[in-house]
Amino acid sequence: MSDRDPRIFQTPVADSTTVFSKDLFKGKVLFCTGGGSGICYGMVLQMMKHGANAAIVGRKVERLTAAAKQQEKDAGNGTRCIATPGDVRKYADLEAAVAKTMETFGRIDYVICGAAGNFMAPIDGVSPNGFMTVQQIDLQGTYNTVKATINEVKRNHGVYTHVGATLHYTAIPWQAAASAAKAGIDALSQSIAVEYGPFGVRSNVIAPGMMKGTEGADRLTPKGGEEIVESRIPQQRIGDIHDCANAAVYLFSPAASYVSGTKLVVDGGAQHFPGPWLPYPDS
Ligand code: HXC
Repeated sequence: MSDRDPRIFQTPVADSTTVFSKDLFKGKVLFCTGGGSGICYGMVLQMMKHGANAAIVGRKVERLTAAAKQQEKDAGNGTRCIATPGDVRKYADLEAAVAKTMETFGRIDYVICGAAGNFMAPIDGVSPNGFMTVQQIDLQGTYNTVKATINEVKRNHGVYTHVGATLHYTAIPWQAAASAAKAGIDALSQSIAVEYGPFGVRSNVIAPGMMKGTEGADRLTPKGGEEIVESRIPQQRIGDIHDCANAAVYLFSPAASYVSGTKLVVDGGAQHFPGPWLPYPDS
């Protein structure tokens, strides 16, 4: 039973199809690393609901193939999703995934760089190889993805959206490797925005806060402590994958045509408030 102040309002989760046209991305193609699960799965599905076809890249072939089928079923509008298995640490895998996408759909307009690896460990509890592994998946993987897709994206005046984090805007314990990698992704995204802006390419980062149903949230939320976490988020709820998916739809859409080289934080205002709340003042 909650003893939260009844005046507190949790802004509901929305669905971008109630705001943007369902044909918004008709005829466009999305290429997404990490699209088989979590936040990226939600982003791909939402883009498909707006008419895009998609290719998703991941290491686990069976899970990826099942996810692609599920995306098509969930989108329910005849859009297609193909599995293009690969490890983002290997540039040749990305070249092959791009080739398969081109063979199937003939173009790539939008790219989500979302594949990530992470674990909780203190700085002296990570081996050099452990630290490097996270950099290779998150940061080198993002570079590899950009390198493999940039010619197509330039041709179509397309858009990159990278999945970042808010970890490194301050710092949180036991996340040094992921924080360093995500900081690098912010920098890389800005470089893409500057170097390829003159070719009509945009590049931005979505920085998610705590999103329920993701590996990150599962690791960082104490069991049974969801309400305490929620009470410390100004919007009074843990984020939903839909919140990030809606943000991706906006950033890819022409409504964001002058938005490039920036970070869109999707965290209910949490980055600005370390907590805890004081007792609610009577007014
Ligand atoms: C310390 C660890 C470790 C741990 C692995 N290592 N787990 N060190 N603590 N918990 C070390 C290993 O000992 C090894 O170093 C090195 O990392 C490579 O490990 P492997 O298991 O061989 O690598 P691999 O199979 O490629 O796995 C990659 C991984 C793994 C990142 C280590 O955790 C993984 O694939 N995770 C699934 C994807 C994932 O984590 N998704 C969540 C993303 S969430 P040595 O020296 O022993 O060889 C996210 C959000 C961030 O990114 C924001 C959170 C809010």
